[in-house]
Amino acid sequence: MRRAVCPGSFDPVTNGHLDIIGRTAPLFDEVVVAVLINKSKKGLFSVEERMDMLAEQAATYPNVRVDSFHGLLVDYCRTHEIRAIVKGIRAVSDFDYELQMAQMNHQLSGVDTLFMPTSPEFSFIASSLVKEVATYGGDVAHLLPEPVHRRLLERIAERA
Ligand code: PNS
Repeated sequence: MRRAVCPGSFDPVTNGHLDIIGRTAPLFDEVVVAVLINKSKKGLFSVEERMDMLAEQAATYPNVRVDSFHGLLVDYCRTHEIRAIVKGIRAVSDFDYELQMAQMNHQLSGVDTLFMPTSPEFSFIASSLVKEVATYGGDVAHLLPEPVHRRLLERIAERA
């Protein structure tokens, strides 16, 4: 079985993430969207909330499932027999660090990383920027799926 992972923080999932997930799905038998459990960095949403939002959005792809992981991504790949990591590249500025990680991951485990250029209309979207703009009242509705946008505004209001 050809299995790939789309890893990330997904705090929360954006239309940019969904562009990559949706274009990866037809290329593999199974795609796992894996949310990083990062104990040292508290997100706006819990890992469970992020997974819920991802699962709801990925429901249209029968071969995509959502999971979480901690520790090294390559260890997760080894345990789950995943041979490819798929990463979206938004701009050249993403490339340096992504290349370094891809080479490290390959050297550690033999798992390859495939870079997928983000569709141009999504190339400026980052969860961190979306959260910042929304916190100060900017309109980010077009950057997120509607249910995710609603939950983002609710969470910001709770925290205010
Ligand atoms: O959405 P993000 O925060 O850019 O995703 C980064 C992520 C989760 C893909 C990356 O930090 C990662 O793979 N973390 C797992 C820990 C790991 O394997 N570190 C070594 C990388 S060479």
